[in-house]
Parts: sequence; C-alpha cells; structure tokens
Amino acid sequence: MKRVVFSLPGNEAIAQSLAGQLEADLGLCQIRHFPDGESYVRIETPVEDREAILVCTLDRPDEKFLPLQFMAATARELGASRVGLVCPYLAYMRQDQRFRAGEAVSSLYFAGLLNAMADWLVAVDPHLHRRDSLDGVFSIPAVAVHAAPCVASWIRDNVPEPVLIGPDNETAQWVASVAAGAGAPYVVLEKIRSGDRAVEVSVPDISVITGRTPVLVDDIISTGRTMIAAMTHLAALRQRPPVCVGVHAIFAGDAYGALSSAGAAQIVTCNTVVHESNAIDVASPIAAAVSGVIAMVDRPGDRNRVQRTS
Ligand code: R5P
Repeated sequence: MKRVVFSLPGNEAIAQSLAGQLEADLGLCQIRHFPDGESYVRIETPVEDREAILVCTLDRPDEKFLPLQFMAATARELGASRVGLVCPYLAYMRQDQRFRAGEAVSSLYFAGLLNAMADWLVAVDPHLHRRDSLDGVFSIPAVAVHAAPCVASWIRDNVPEPVLIGPDNETAQWVASVAAGAGAPYVVLEKIRSGDRAVEVSVPDISVITGRTPVLVDDIISTGRTMIAAMTHLAALRQRPPVCVGVHAIFAGDAYGALSSAGAAQIVTCNTVVHESNAIDVASPIAAAVSGVIAMVDRPGDRNRVQRTS
C-alpha cells in the first residue's frame, strides 16, 4: 500500500514536496479549533494498513503538540501500520541539562512524549550540544538530517568571496563542515550568554575576515541576539555588512526586525520553519532520510548503518 503523508497546519509546502519525492499519497485531514480553543482533528484519507507520515515543524511547540498527538493517535486507531514523524524543526532540544537546581530537563521529557507517539522520527539539525546523537535522547529510531550541504551550496552560489563566521563554539563543527562545502575559510567566535536576550561575543581574528564577505551561520536564530552581537563586533572592526544564514527561522518576538535593523546585508534561512527569509530548500535531504529510516525500521538490524549515513 502507498504511504500517506499528512501536513499539520503550516507544513503544506514541505509535505507536498515530500509526498512527491517519496511517491506517497498526500493525505487529507482537518485540524482546527473549536470555539472554546480545544483541538478538532479528522483524518479523511484512509490509513488502514498504510504508513502514515505526519509532517509538523515544532517551533512554538506548545500549541502544535496536542493536535499532532491527536493526529498520531487517530492514525493508529484507524489502523495505520506505522506512524512516522517528520519534524523539520525539533523543539526543546536546547534544555538538555539541569542548568539550575529544580529545572526541567525538557529535551528528555519532550523526547519521551514523541517516543510514545510515533514509530520513527526525522528532524533537521536538532540542537545536539551535550549529546552525540538523537539516540541519546530518543528510544525510537531517530535520524538527524544535516542542512550543511544545502547551506554550503547556497553560499557558493550567492556570496562572492565568503568567510564563514560561527557565532559560538557550539557551532564550530557545523560551521567547519559548511565552510568545507562552500570552499571558504571560517572563524568561530566565543559567546557568553548572560540572559535570554543578553549575549556578548569575542573579537575574532580579523585577518581571516578582512576583504571578504562575512557570512554568519548558526543553527537557530531565536531572539537574534547571538547574530546581532557578532554583527556589532564586525561593524566595530569596519568589516562589510554580513549575510546572516540560519537553519531554523524561529525569530522570537521582534528578532527579525532587530536583525534587519542591525545592518545585515541579507538574512537567509532553510525552509524548516516557514518564514519570509526561507531561501534554502531542505526537502530533498529530508525525503532521503525518511526513505532511510523506513528501510531501517523494515530491517531493524540495519539501524546503526542508517544513523551513520544520514
Ligand atoms: C545556541 O547554542 C544556538 O546554536 C544559537 O546560537 C542560539 O540558539 C541562538 O539564539 P538567539 O538567536 O536567541 O541568540
């Protein structure tokens, strides 16, 4: 039976692209709110004995989670042979330890909820800082798609004489791989975050940057304060206005306006969270990862092979 891909609200474009690439049906469903704010979910396309693939990016996760949970539960109850989750942005991964006494380790608890919901998961560049892979967080097969090749290709095609700048050492490995793909040099800054919206970065070695177009690259742009702090340093060093590239366009509150006003030459993101800055399409590597994880769950002995090659 053909697989069926369902889009949760706002994920229509990427779901349609995935359905095409996976040669799956695009399923019909209704997801809306009752007047009292409770969620209404109805699956219209038959799912019995079929693999149901739910596409739901999870920025602003608290409001998206319950409809997703209801979709997964409905698909199961209607006889889906498996329920897979494609989360172009996977939320809550940054709170991966108890930084202060009494705090929730949200990444583990959120992963627990998804483990119970689905048979497998594909996510793009989940923020894995203190964990090596999604295996350390998830008990279901979970595959991380790397946006780096798509980002590198965009930089190669669009930015003359780029120098890549990672705004903190958490991004070092990622920036190095984008830089290698783009055939460009890179530097990584030191970041100190003293509050949700208070970020300072160190002055980089400007000899690597001078005469080139700075490209700030980060996995997530949330408040934008990390990028703004780096841009402030570049401006003080009289460097060219940077191109800002983020994988996930979270843009909390006024972040997009603040980043534009801070003097970015251009702001570009991947289409993992729908935003006007989306310019880098990651649907193809997501489709490849979905095919890989389905092959893996069909043949459980192959799990390690798929994890390494995703
Ligand atoms: C953090 O470690 C991430 O890699 C990003 O640097 C961070 O999430 C960006 O956050 P913000 O835009 O709020 O400074």
